[in-house]
Amino acid sequence: MNRGSRKINRIGVLTSGGDSPGMNAAIRAVVRTGIFHDLEVYGIMRGYQGLIEDDIQKMESRSVANIIQRGGTILKTARCKEFYDYEGRKKGYDNLKKRGIDGLVIIGGDGSFRGAVEFSKEFDIPCIGIAGTIDKDILGTDFTIGFDTAVNTAVEAIDKVRDTMDAHDRIFIIEVMGRDAGYIALHSGIATGAENILIPERKTDMDDIVKSLLEKERRKKLVNLIVVAEGDDFGGAEEVHKILKEKLPMAEIRVCILGHIQRGGAPSCIDRLIASRMGYHAVECLLEGRHNVFVGIQNNRMHYIPLENAVKSKGKISEEWLKIVKILAS
Ligand code: F6P
Repeated sequence: MNRGSRKINRIGVLTSGGDSPGMNAAIRAVVRTGIFHDLEVYGIMRGYQGLIEDDIQKMESRSVANIIQRGGTILKTARCKEFYDYEGRKKGYDNLKKRGIDGLVIIGGDGSFRGAVEFSKEFDIPCIGIAGTIDKDILGTDFTIGFDTAVNTAVEAIDKVRDTMDAHDRIFIIEVMGRDAGYIALHSGIATGAENILIPERKTDMDDIVKSLLEKERRKKLVNLIVVAEGDDFGGAEEVHKILKEKLPMAEIRVCILGHIQRGGAPSCIDRLIASRMGYHAVECLLEGRHNVFVGIQNNRMHYIPLENAVKSKGKISEEWLKIVKILAS
């Protein structure tokens, strides 16, 4: 069924950039919504890399059975340098045309969306983005697929570290993911009662942290949890540790880097839900002629934002949340 001015018969779907729990649920929704509308749906392996290398296979309803609960992505993913160049994108276009694929759904973050913008400007293939990244750093959507799962994974791990931290009266610096964005650090830090949260969006006053640690030591509060995003302005937990150790040589400080465990595991209920909704609406967009947008959710309603406007939401951290961290950490 086509409601837009242009007829869409075959669509492709790919996952690109860092994987995120819930991407499989989104693929499932795209494939099954497409089939519901009598479209042929093609899975493109390893993101734009598979598009360029013609690693494309037709998908059936059964191809996406039993994946809604699985982390990772059955289509695999990649960060593809070749797609930055026109020649790479042209190869990708030729492979789509060869199969008569006339619409593309891209599940990924802002980098993947930027690739889609170039592609849709140069070639006659409408593109729809689905916001999938654990970093939640895309402006225009309250959720990105995978963020909720990643934060819950971080919270569970930090709670465990807190037990041993408390038993030993230690200071712990825990690094969570987020090269450019502090949302995982901020959410997991508040939820685990962190005394300090260091994020890329804000300059950190280390002297202030040292002063507060010394003051807490005087009150015999020896347990202190510092949650650091990997891309904070010192460059992650190891660097923060070096500085603190210099300033507080007697303190018992340990570092724990949570790393990629945050990107894996079964998606949470919220991630499965938003992925299913976004996947369904992405196909509807293609059919309705609402092209070159990404599907986001604001106040629990679907929003369609031009891919061109998809930018990192750097600096949009709530002042109120930062104030809450300070007040609750005393
Ligand atoms: O996908 C987002 C992200 O997990 C960031 O938080 C992190 O900085 C980056 O990807 C790590 O990427 P890679 O797995 O390629 O090292």
